[in-house]
Amino acid sequence: MKFFIDTANLDDIKQAYDLGVLDGVTTNPSLMAKEGITGDANVKAHYKAICDIVDNNVSAEVIATDFAGMVKEGEELAKIDDKIVVKVPMIKDGVKAIKYFSDKGIRTNCTLVFSAGQALLAAKAGASYVSPFIGRLDDISHDGLSLIEQIVQIYDNYGYETEVLAASVRHTMHLVQCAEIGADVVTCPLKVITSLLNHPLTDSGLAAFLADHKKASQK
Ligand code: E4P
Repeated sequence: MKFFIDTANLDDIKQAYDLGVLDGVTTNPSLMAKEGITGDANVKAHYKAICDIVDNNVSAEVIATDFAGMVKEGEELAKIDDKIVVKVPMIKDGVKAIKYFSDKGIRTNCTLVFSAGQALLAAKAGASYVSPFIGRLDDISHDGLSLIEQIVQIYDNYGYETEVLAASVRHTMHLVQCAEIGADVVTCPLKVITSLLNHPLTDSGLAAFLADHKKASQK
């Protein structure tokens, strides 16, 4: 399973990359705004800075919602770096844009997916990744993880190459359950990745090993 980090914060991206487990980055307009990145040139420079940190797979989202606008923006984003994946919302013109990009060999991530039907459309249009938002479904009392299960099953039935990118992953159980289900990718904040390290028995076990080693060396 690939690990993507869901942030536009360069320090967080560096920390996850330095851990040696990072396969990519997802951003969205809210995450870019959170970092105070505004204006076309600054936005593009920031995507380039992210691409310079990681090895591949940097999702950069279009703002336009019409086909021509999405194509124009997506082509410009794709020119920034080969690592860019153009992120396109699951709307009618978005599906058309995904098909257009797919025919041109530009990778896409279909975002804001909340149903299996939407995921099926994204795959048929040739999306490289589909992003179902688990946490946001849980927020409205729907089972986000069962949507991941449904999509994995549907893609397996027909051999679609679109990768299931579980998004809006809020905690380690989401991540581990996505791995059990067979999601291809998870994207989450740095804290979720680093929380995977934690176990009290690891801490107490290590403390005991080190104490025993110290005692033995003092004899
Ligand atoms: C996906 O690519 C989105 O950026 C993201 O996962 C949304 O997560 P949130 O629901 O925690 O904002």
